[in-house]
Amino acid sequence: MPRSVLLPLLASGDFCSGQVLADALGVSRTAVWKQVNKLAVETGLEIESVKGKGYRIPGGVELLDAARIRAGLAQQAAPLLSSLNILESVDSTNAEAMRQLEAVRPPGVVHTAEQQTAGRGRRGRQWVSPFARNLYLSVVWEFGQGAGSLEGLSLAVGVAVARALRACDLPPVQLKWPNDVLHGGKKLGGILLEMAGDVAGPCQVVVGLGLNVAMPPSAAREIDQAWTDLATMAGHDHSQGQHPGRNALFSALLNEILPLLATFENAGFGAWREQWQDLDAYADKPVVLDASGHRVAGIARGVDHRGALQLETTTGMQSMFGGELSLRPAS
Ligand code: BTN
Repeated sequence: MPRSVLLPLLASGDFCSGQVLADALGVSRTAVWKQVNKLAVETGLEIESVKGKGYRIPGGVELLDAARIRAGLAQQAAPLLSSLNILESVDSTNAEAMRQLEAVRPPGVVHTAEQQTAGRGRRGRQWVSPFARNLYLSVVWEFGQGAGSLEGLSLAVGVAVARALRACDLPPVQLKWPNDVLHGGKKLGGILLEMAGDVAGPCQVVVGLGLNVAMPPSAAREIDQAWTDLATMAGHDHSQGQHPGRNALFSALLNEILPLLATFENAGFGAWREQWQDLDAYADKPVVLDASGHRVAGIARGVDHRGALQLETTTGMQSMFGGELSLRPAS
C-alpha cells in the first residue's frame, strides 16, 4: 500500500519533500524515511535523499498505466483487448495467466507486472525481471482446434515483436529460431508459450513475452548470456537516443500481437513464414542444435510452413521442431 502511494509521487524524477510524502501516507517523516528505504530495497530502484529537498528517483521511472496503454491501441487491436491486469509484483506473468484461466476467460486477457520474482524462461531458465525497467507480459488467447493448428505460433509472435519495434522507429532486430529476439547477436527479448486445455480441441494459450527495455546493470549481472536492451540500441542507433517509453512500447506490441492471435488459427504460420525468414539471424550459417545433450551440426536453411527449422546436415535436410531445442552458431 505505501508503495502505491510513494511510487507515483516519485516517478517523475523530481524531488518530493519528506513532508509531502508524510502527508500523502498519513505518517511521520521518520516513518517516510523507513518506507522509502523499504521501497528501494524491494524494487531495486535508486532513491536519492537530499537534505532540504527530499527524495527522488534520479531520471524518474515510467510506471505502467492502463489508460495510456489503451490510448495507444490501434483500431484493429483495441476491441481485441478484453482485460488488462497490471500488477506491481508477481512470481511470473505466465504463471499468473495460467492461475487466472478459469476466473478471467480468454481471449484477449493480458497480464503484466512491473516486476517478476520468478520470471520463467525457456528450458528451465530464469528470466531476469527487475522493477519498472523492462516489459513482461502474457497474452491469453483461446483456440478451437488444438495444438496442431498452432504450429509456428511462437515464431509468428517473434515477427509481431519485430514489427512493433519497427513501428516505434527502433533499429531493426533479428530472430533466432525458435523464439529469441536479437539485436547485434545479443538477446533483447524472449517468448515463452504455455498451453492449457485439450491438445486436440479447445485450448488456451498463454503467450509470454519479456523485452529488455532499460536493464539496470545490477540486475544484468544475473543474466547468463549475451544480452542487450532497447536503451542501448536506441543510444547507439536511434537519432533521439531514447526508446519511446514503456507504455507506448506496450501498446505497439499489443497492436501486433492481438491481431496475430485473432487470425492465426485460420491463416497458419504460412502467412508469417516469409517475414520470419527475412528476420532470420542464422540464415545459411553453420549452427549446432542442442537437443538435451544430443548435438546436431548443420547449416540453418530457414523454416518450413510449420515453423520447423530446416537443418542441412551431412546426411541430408532435417526438420527440427522447437520445444527443448536450442540453437547456437558453430564455433
Ligand atoms: C526465453 O527464455 O527466451 C523466454 C523468456 C520469456 C519471458 C517472459 S516475461 C513474461 C512471461 N512471464 C514469464 O515468466 N516468462 C515470460
